[in-house]
Amino acid sequence: MTSVAPAVGDVAALGYLSMTALEVAAPVVLVAVLAVVGAWSASRGRDLYVRLLRHGLIAALVLLVPGAFLIGWFIAFDPETISGITTTPAQQTSWILSMSLFGAGLSMLVGVAAYGLGGWVSGALSNKRRYKLIIAIDGPAASGKGTLAKRIAAHYGLGWLDTGLLYRAVARDVVVKGGRLEDLGAAIAAARAIDATTLCDPHLRGPRAGDDASMIAKIPEVRAALLDYQRTFAQQGKGAVLDGRDIGTVVCPDARVKIFVTASDEARARRRFLEHHGRGDTITYEELLADIRRRDARDSNRSVAPLAAAPDAILLDTTDLDADQAFVAAMKIIEKKVGK
Ligand code: DC
Repeated sequence: MTSVAPAVGDVAALGYLSMTALEVAAPVVLVAVLAVVGAWSASRGRDLYVRLLRHGLIAALVLLVPGAFLIGWFIAFDPETISGITTTPAQQTSWILSMSLFGAGLSMLVGVAAYGLGGWVSGALSNKRRYKLIIAIDGPAASGKGTLAKRIAAHYGLGWLDTGLLYRAVARDVVVKGGRLEDLGAAIAAARAIDATTLCDPHLRGPRAGDDASMIAKIPEVRAALLDYQRTFAQQGKGAVLDGRDIGTVVCPDARVKIFVTASDEARARRRFLEHHGRGDTITYEELLADIRRRDARDSNRSVAPLAAAPDAILLDTTDLDADQAFVAAMKIIEKKVGK
């Protein structure tokens, strides 16, 4: 009896050699699509992903196992049908059906494996992201979020980014180059060329710089240009604390802790007044109150990434709290979320 193995191998080899580029590309594309679908469904919810994976695997085995069994049977007991020597139409049909069953099961198994792999990779990546302690602290001007964020970062040994400084620096760079804040092109160019090493400039801290920052912060392209830097910063080492207006909603929507710090307008103006007074500035309480209200209105009413608490943010009202009390209250919120 002649061995059928070479015959099967030859047929397979000839089959692959005669495939067109499209016939080779189609399954590759299908596998890639299934991997993306797996990643997507795992990111939507573990339950759905696992259920689809389990059902897909069962369906593949239901086709594959009988197909493999029938092929084995033909190889062992009816090799003539495989090599097309002595066959009846019924034998030929059974052989083709066995091959089809096996082929469909194998294709399905490859598809399920791609789907599973996509889901696994997406799960591993999101676990890695979750492992980092990213704390989003949002709130209006002078709510005390900066002082708080700095202390929390020092407590956990995390990086700290006052994202308001980025917007302040963009406005400064526009003005320094002789541009106007209303000039969209100049603001966008400055945001794209921002140099983070210049954020320690003490001139960025004044109320004028804050008002200018609030003007250019309305421009979607300016916000988009600063997004990557903020997100990359958040992903450093063990994580980071970022304070701003849209950290919990846009910059780090996956942050493990989100705190929205508020305080009455008057309390905030009083704090700013004492700060400026201490530095010998002549600005009045009324001017600071007006500045805070103007900025709040502009930051809250803009169309992109307005000042807003994320739905899962915890509110912290610091109107009647000093810096130490606000820190204790914030630590309670954080420890409740992530443990001690
Ligand atoms: O936090 P701050 O006062 O330094 O911010 C200055 C301005 O920058 C603020 O009025 C609005 C804008 N800003 C923003 O739009 N988004 C942020 N994440 C941070 C600040």
